[in-house]
Amino acid sequence: MKGVILAGGLGSRLQPCTLVTNKHLLPVYDKPMIYYPIQTLINAGISDILLVTGGNYAGHFLRLLGNGKEFGLEHINYTYQEGEGGIADALSLAEYFAAGEPICVVLGDNIIQGNIRDAARAFRHQGRGAKILLKEVQDAHRFGVAVVEDGEVTGIVEKPKEPVSNLAVTGIYFYDSEVFNFIKTLEPSARGELEITDVNNMYLKRGELTYDMLEGWWTDAGTFESLNRAANLVAESGANNL
Ligand code: G1P
Repeated sequence: MKGVILAGGLGSRLQPCTLVTNKHLLPVYDKPMIYYPIQTLINAGISDILLVTGGNYAGHFLRLLGNGKEFGLEHINYTYQEGEGGIADALSLAEYFAAGEPICVVLGDNIIQGNIRDAARAFRHQGRGAKILLKEVQDAHRFGVAVVEDGEVTGIVEKPKEPVSNLAVTGIYFYDSEVFNFIKTLEPSARGELEITDVNNMYLKRGELTYDMLEGWWTDAGTFESLNRAANLVAESGANNL
């Protein structure tokens, strides 16, 4: 299985900090944000990694990460997303890299306390389709929200005003190589982006979407509030089982 980290965007919710660098290079406690998703993949036994970035400061990633020596990697792959097409658009750039293999996709601003090794193992066993990781939250309206009935996901709604459950779809996804064909059929949403939630609902329609509950705390870090929360969580209890 290969790993894809999506770390593009303009980080407009974190201005003025993101006027001088990429959001994913801002500190979360004692490390740049991007360190956490890289470690998430490595802890799951995934070392063939593509970083998709964009915006005005893509070169900063190279200066910081190089070929990933800090993480015990021999190589990191990079690619560049033009414009602001959304998560699924960024993911479409990974088709050549994936080369038919299954992938684990991690959003660059998602930080976890534990690890996803078991979920990765379960997805390898699953063999095809997709798997998402869910987490109970208090502020579900900020996320993709899943409805689960009798142990199965029956629907996902992106940022509902009135969430029908407290189950957020975290930014960690497992896909087979069909994902790239699904993305090609997507239409932009009201916010003008290709939505990852639409991709997940396509797998759901086909009966090929499974889910696991994520153990330990999970947070995004794309607003000042969540960035601050992420830093506090890392300071209090560490991340990535480190
Ligand atoms: C994105 C996804 C959303 C998911 C979230 C996890 O939201 O669209 O479904 O729950 O990441 O962090 P965004 O970061 O674009 O607001």
